[in-house]
Amino acid sequence: MRLSAVKRVALAGVIAIAAGSAMADSSTSYKIVDGGIPESLTGKPGDPDAGRAAMINQRLGNCLACHQSTALKDQPFHGEIGPALDGVADRYSEAQIRLIVVNAKEMFDGTMMPAFYKSDGLTRVMDSFSGKSILSAADVENVVAYLKTFKE
Ligand code: HEC
Repeated sequence: MRLSAVKRVALAGVIAIAAGSAMADSSTSYKIVDGGIPESLTGKPGDPDAGRAAMINQRLGNCLACHQSTALKDQPFHGEIGPALDGVADRYSEAQIRLIVVNAKEMFDGTMMPAFYKSDGLTRVMDSFSGKSILSAADVENVVAYLKTFKE
């Protein structure tokens, strides 16, 4: 009798773990580790060309509203609110760049730079929230892939 009760508890545990991982798959989550987000939000590397397009798109990154960049010098307007992006791949690891793009406020206290990938304040963004984010998970990975080429 007692043994089967133990078995039932163990089985319930297995089901809970399975439900937990299914939830993680259907929502967008990220984990901050040592001041960065080491894992790709999509589970795969981004496309740098698409990242370039997202950065100059005024409805997506609009990064040039605040930043200058030699790589984007063919673009008309470059703001001066933030530092020039030249050489960011020398200054930051991929994980740190990802965190800056996801939520710069985690990196720079009180910065004007918007959090491009919004969460509900926890480490997980449910699908119903992700539509409110300026950049999608794929956009973030594309921008990260492009910024990784910013070496001096
Ligand atoms: C509203 C202005 C604004 C926009 C828009 C903006 N940023 Fe920033 N960003 C800043 C500021 C200001 C800083 C400096 C951090 C601080 O506040 O100390 C910064 C810092 C950074 C840094 C770190 C640079 C360094 O050398 O330390 C990176 C990388 C960066 N931004 C990338 C981006 C990208 C990519 C985009 C577009 C997706 C973007 N930013 C959009 C204002 C902005």
